[in-house]
Amino acid sequence: MSTMQHVNPRVRGIRAPVNLQDLAAHISEQIAQGVKKPFKRVIDVSSGDPHKAGMPPISFIRQVLAVCVYPELLKEKSLPLDVRQRAQQLLDICGGGSVGSYSTSFCGIPEIQKSISEFITRRDGGVPSHPEDIIFSCGSQMSLSLVLRLFASVEGKTQTGVLTPMPCPHTLPMLLDMTGLTLVPYRLLEEQGWAVDLGELHRALEAARVHCEPKAIYISNPGNPTGHVQDRKTIEKVIQFAATNCLILLAEEVYQDSVYGQDKEFISYKKVLSEMGKTYADTVELVSFHSLSTAYIGECGLRGGYMEVINMDPAVKRILTILPSLSSPVLPQLAMEIMINPPTPEDSSYNTYTQEIHHIEDTLSQNAKRACEFLNRVEGISCQPPMAGVFLYPRVHLPPHMLAEAKRLGVKADVLYCQRLLEEEGVCLGAGYENGQEDKNYHIRLCILAPPSTLEEVLTRLCSFHLQLLDKFF
Ligand SMILES: Cc1ncc(COP(=O)(O)O)c(C=O)c1O
Repeated sequence: MSTMQHVNPRVRGIRAPVNLQDLAAHISEQIAQGVKKPFKRVIDVSSGDPHKAGMPPISFIRQVLAVCVYPELLKEKSLPLDVRQRAQQLLDICGGGSVGSYSTSFCGIPEIQKSISEFITRRDGGVPSHPEDIIFSCGSQMSLSLVLRLFASVEGKTQTGVLTPMPCPHTLPMLLDMTGLTLVPYRLLEEQGWAVDLGELHRALEAARVHCEPKAIYISNPGNPTGHVQDRKTIEKVIQFAATNCLILLAEEVYQDSVYGQDKEFISYKKVLSEMGKTYADTVELVSFHSLSTAYIGECGLRGGYMEVINMDPAVKRILTILPSLSSPVLPQLAMEIMINPPTPEDSSYNTYTQEIHHIEDTLSQNAKRACEFLNRVEGISCQPPMAGVFLYPRVHLPPHMLAEAKRLGVKADVLYCQRLLEEEGVCLGAGYENGQEDKNYHIRLCILAPPSTLEEVLTRLCSFHLQLLDKFF
């Protein structure tokens, strides 16, 4: 009997991610072994991982963490004084003064929960946030999966459904599958910059009720991979929709710090909800997620994020806070504390920190503009201007012969497109299929938070591949 036969049937049937990254790794290995390719290196900009794409980490965060991990560095005079002072403050709240001890509670070090709630209160212009509503875990995807598992239900008509934007973050379809939840798609309006459409939410909900029990609506704002930023009116309407239909709001707000679109601003679901009057503010269940993997910090590998849980049944919330699987790692909590409390003008690291952040902000907004303009000039590619986040999500118009070839090979056409691009030009992008899109419009996903020279190379290789493809097939 093979191992697979022992595996939970739900796991056997999951939508496994397309293995473009494996192919990228394989090609890189071939190059290292001396196999000749038309390119010198593979560039992987398929995921929202700025450091992987070549962006540097923020010095202050790394310096403080380094001292926390190795406290001998507290004596190291070559490190700025505020770095050493901050590290000492953080060590003081760790059990036994060491990052090697367990977090005091499963859902986070109390001082850091308090610090996060103060950050949220500041961010939301005084709307109160409470430390007991903050739960820390190894990243926002882990937090989301814990919440989803809480209300996953049996199969059949009563299987729990989650309204999910199309396109959605590429890790979400598999997460829903793994948790045994039904993905209920609602289409975003591409021609309107990927905005949410209320009519479409109603349509999706009605259609879903025939085969499952929708219990939640997932929102990605600012949008991954669309780069769309929702305005207050839209947020109010989504909240009303959730309230009327008894849906829990799951708001991924991990790109809240990276809005660069003109006249656009991030407004949290929590803020809008709290300003909609008691009928909504005291009843609508909302979970908001934030992460260390966010644009400017980009510390994806540290695996840290928190959720703020609003209006959830106390018994249900209690389950979340006592889950041993949560057992928050200490180092990412410290990184979060530094991220939300950066150096102030009195601190010696302030100038360097500010310069580094400005550099990332400028790179992101200039890259977004450059890449969007560039791609819109390429025949057969169109791209909505993004307003935030780290992705561009252009549409590619594929020639009929490529569609036919994809059909013959039994693969999705946008996946085939990305495979060929990888093989011929050494650029790894994401395929729209991974973002849940399975319609006749094909898209590709690229992380634009990369050094400008890397982005330029990606654009050149992509353009060359695309034009050759059109030549070949027309
Ligand atoms: C929508 C969304 N959720 C979550 C994350 C990050 O998840 P995690 O905190 O698990 O790294 C990202 C990417 O950084 C994202 O785009």
